[in-house]
Amino acid sequence: MVSRVIPVETFDLVIFGGTGDLARRKILPGLFRRFRSGQMPEGSRIIGAARSDLDQAGYRQMIAAAVAEFGGEEKHDSKGLEAFIATLDYVAIDAKGEGGWAELASIVRKDVVQAFYFSVAPSLFGDLAERLHTNSIANAQSRIVVEKPFGRDLETARALNETLATHFDESQIYRIDHYLGKETVQNLMAVRFGNMLFEPLWNNHYVDHIQITVAETVGVGGRGAYYDKSGAMRDMVQNHLMQLLCLIAMEPPSQFGADEVRDEKLKVIRALQPVEPHHIVRGQYDAGYDGKSYREDAENPRSFTESFIAMKCEIANWRWAGVPFYLRTGKRMKARSSEITVVFKDLGHSIFEGDEARHRNILSIRLQPNEGMDLQVTIKEPGPGGMRLIDVPLDMSFADALGPDAEEVPDAYERLIMDVIRGNQTLFMRGDEVEAAWSWTDPLINGWEARNDVPKLYDAGSTGPEDAMAMMHRDGRKWREIKA
Ligand code: BG6
Repeated sequence: MVSRVIPVETFDLVIFGGTGDLARRKILPGLFRRFRSGQMPEGSRIIGAARSDLDQAGYRQMIAAAVAEFGGEEKHDSKGLEAFIATLDYVAIDAKGEGGWAELASIVRKDVVQAFYFSVAPSLFGDLAERLHTNSIANAQSRIVVEKPFGRDLETARALNETLATHFDESQIYRIDHYLGKETVQNLMAVRFGNMLFEPLWNNHYVDHIQITVAETVGVGGRGAYYDKSGAMRDMVQNHLMQLLCLIAMEPPSQFGADEVRDEKLKVIRALQPVEPHHIVRGQYDAGYDGKSYREDAENPRSFTESFIAMKCEIANWRWAGVPFYLRTGKRMKARSSEITVVFKDLGHSIFEGDEARHRNILSIRLQPNEGMDLQVTIKEPGPGGMRLIDVPLDMSFADALGPDAEEVPDAYERLIMDVIRGNQTLFMRGDEVEAAWSWTDPLINGWEARNDVPKLYDAGSTGPEDAMAMMHRDGRKWREIKA
């Protein structure tokens, strides 16, 4: 397969929080892969900026160790790694004070693409934005990359948008949701808008319901303090699941352009109906499978924060009226599995005598692991015995379908960072989108807080609380099995 790596312009990428967990686990190992693929032009530089009192050599050593720990196969390329870390620089900086800013100003070049990645606590976003300007580092072409959480409700998100807007134009702000950088998430758009087959059926005449499941096996140990103030709703639903829902439900944009796509996503969020309390199930994992309970992990014995949530949502528009969207996400579940499933309606009439079984076409799009698609179709059971119908999968794993020549799928972060350098905002959230998502989320959270809703306990290694099953059963439906 011919390499389709599209070169980008020479850049200076400053990573605030350059010594942090995200930088070491994802951002820098990802950039190393891009470097190896030849996408990082010569002369481009990555500048770590953080509080730690390191020098350039110390930072290079730290990142070499991070790549060795968190990188994939590429970490064995020691020559490549040596060349990569030679592109790294470091500035010890005080986000809230003056320390380090003059040095940063002297390092960052004005005649290349400048990107500033804010991989720090959101409370520092405003300070960084301001100091980049007061120290004349950023200009009208610079880009800033802002990590989640983008606020914790509508009010804080709005305030953050306003702060950023005093220093940067919307076209310079890249709000990251790493789910949008996942290969299969983009494939959702290719499947919907690149095939004749699905789009005509993609509506309430043919679709019975849609399920979105993002199940994780990890708990919140290590980040309990953050998580306990967020819960699954803020940590996963308001952003990742909402983005998946938008891509599944949106109208076809007129073209694959940043604003065209984001306009359509925004309409979906605005059409989301308030969710009735009895259509929400919140859960908390119990101890088990050699792990602690959620409350122990979060170090809060009285916590009412949910580590699992299932909900039934409705989109009030012509395409989707009457089609439930069931969302579900949780930690410490049976398997790591993310999947979107479109369940089509029953046939209105069966011409086959004696065929009482219900046959349904089901399209499932697997995000992770083993990315691929599976379409369940009805066929005749082979062999004698009359017209007996069975359901079989037309199963395609992308890895199998594309064969051994398939290029290594880039990690979500590396893809998104390259989009920033290229100036392509399609896979980033616009300010109004984030605010609309909070407008829908806030009343739901306020509702269960006002009710003092206590999450239901579920066993670690299970599929979540029984109530989530019951919610589906009441509708005469069932969740897809969670399997790795
Ligand atoms: C993050 C959440 O945004 O996404 C984490 O804060 C979650 O809680 C993670 O574990 C899941 O991402 P992925 O790519 O592993 O599915």
